[in-house]
Amino acid sequence: MCGIVGFVSSGPVIDGLIQGLKKVEYRGYDSAGVAIIEQGIIKRHRAVGPLAALMTELPPFQGTVGIGHTRWATHGRAEEKNAHPHCGKGTAVVHNGIIENFQALKKDLSFQGIQFESDTDTEVIAHLFATSEHLTNLQERVLFVLKQLKGNFAIAVLLQDCTDCIIVARKGLSPLAVGQGKEGFYVGSDLSSLSGSAQKVAFLEDETWGVLYKDQAIFYDWTGQEKHLNFYPNPLQAQETEKGDFQHFMLKEIYQQADLVRIQGLPALPAEVCQASFFTALGCGTAFYAAWVGKFFLERLAKRFLNLELASEFHYRNPILPDGVSIVVSQSGETADTLKATLYAKSQQQYVLGMINAPHSSISRQVDYLMPTGAGTEIGVASTKAFTMQVLSFLNLSLALCSDAPLRQTVLDSLKEIPSVLKDIIQRSHEFAQIAAVLSQYQSILYLGRGLHYALALEGALKMSELSYIHAQGFAAGELKHGPLALIDPQHPVVVLAPWDESFSKTLSNLHEVKARNGPIFLITDTKGAASLEGLKPEGLFMYPSLQEPLLQVFPNAICVQLLAYYTALHKGLSIDQPRNLSKSVTVE
Ligand code: M6R
Repeated sequence: MCGIVGFVSSGPVIDGLIQGLKKVEYRGYDSAGVAIIEQGIIKRHRAVGPLAALMTELPPFQGTVGIGHTRWATHGRAEEKNAHPHCGKGTAVVHNGIIENFQALKKDLSFQGIQFESDTDTEVIAHLFATSEHLTNLQERVLFVLKQLKGNFAIAVLLQDCTDCIIVARKGLSPLAVGQGKEGFYVGSDLSSLSGSAQKVAFLEDETWGVLYKDQAIFYDWTGQEKHLNFYPNPLQAQETEKGDFQHFMLKEIYQQADLVRIQGLPALPAEVCQASFFTALGCGTAFYAAWVGKFFLERLAKRFLNLELASEFHYRNPILPDGVSIVVSQSGETADTLKATLYAKSQQQYVLGMINAPHSSISRQVDYLMPTGAGTEIGVASTKAFTMQVLSFLNLSLALCSDAPLRQTVLDSLKEIPSVLKDIIQRSHEFAQIAAVLSQYQSILYLGRGLHYALALEGALKMSELSYIHAQGFAAGELKHGPLALIDPQHPVVVLAPWDESFSKTLSNLHEVKARNGPIFLITDTKGAASLEGLKPEGLFMYPSLQEPLLQVFPNAICVQLLAYYTALHKGLSIDQPRNLSKSVTVE
């Protein structure tokens, strides 16, 4: 969602701010802006649309203290007046999160004669700072404002009365990172914005604020007590946030999977996990589907029960949880719904295992045991390598808990086949481009699969709809006759995930039912499956080499649905790394 950047230095900061904004672009945004202190005066420049729009007519700022923001509209449309930074008299503010009491504050401020120019909740923060100018002590002034704000927020503030610093603050779910580099101090809504600039980084804890100068940073708690923040070496390398020779980050990230999915050594699990017989998995979107695959792994290999829960629904119903382990799955580690679900699980005395890609994220800091999924930085909004690494983490967990040594060995042997199978698929990407050219003509696509492949059908449909804006929906193949078959006609194609396994013949019968109703079929299968089609002639076919262990077909299937969605969006000329309306890191509920 929205991205915050800030930079205080001894030289001009505008280039550093723009670089930072480019690095948070992946989070998704619809407008952007910067504010800089120029010769003692706050100057602001904002624009709707991509950063390129902000860059046109960008004044030649020379100031050494500045903040910037990419906005994903929540309160108020994507219009320039709603873009951040928001200003009050002598103040400018960028903000992530939601000020829950902004209506009441706005009313009070309006009574004092203050005119509002935007529809946002953020603007109240700027005016509160403006109305606190009588407080000459900076600490008193900041606390005066912070204590009036309810909700979750991360902010960076410029004050005309304090021209050599940026004020930063965090409360609740919205993360904020501070970086120290050779040229000064930085602030950012995540580590990406600090990659390539800050050598050391620290996350602001809940209810912490601070003042960043060019050569020092001082932090305080909500009572005004000074507090120490641990800075550690920046784990993010600059090249991780660059596209290299790829046309899109998404394609780079799809390709990286062939090198990532391999035997890593099984985790040494804590006793709480080894002894648990009841697991609950929590996640949203793609992370939820990875957990769905994890359910198969955990039940088949480790013989443990896994209860699947959408994190966005979970805590609202106050679920009852038997003693056990909750596994929270998240790429960003910042998803507000998943963070809330984590906190609820903790409140129910669950032992919490985090399968998180961003090891220093807010959720990572909450869990009892962290299994970093190790996908590396994922920039494309559509999750690809993060999904496969979440699936691999579930496999590793399940194998570590598996007491059937021969079964474990068979799976590990089959895992060795995966990199070459994935490379083979990637080398034949053009075949997906051909299928995608046909699929892109349709308004609606059904994805079908059985068992493990049902989870992949759901993931494939999510990928297709988020990237191509074609309505796509996943169904369990066995459910077809219970309703969705009514949709089938020549205008409603089905994408089917059906490599050869114990349920193949059942899925084949479903495909004949589709064929009998003139539904176009696009089949993703393996060589054994393709050889067993019994006269079925799909409109499109992609076949990958058969694997020793059918459980691992999830990996080639994942890459296939990703490439299909990628090429469909490419064919339609859409924004692949930042699909409309979506954000990489969903930090509001
Ligand atoms: O960062 P998280 O894994 O917690 O994100 C969860 C979902 O928002 C995410 O997987 C989303 O569904 C993806 N954009 C799908 O490609």
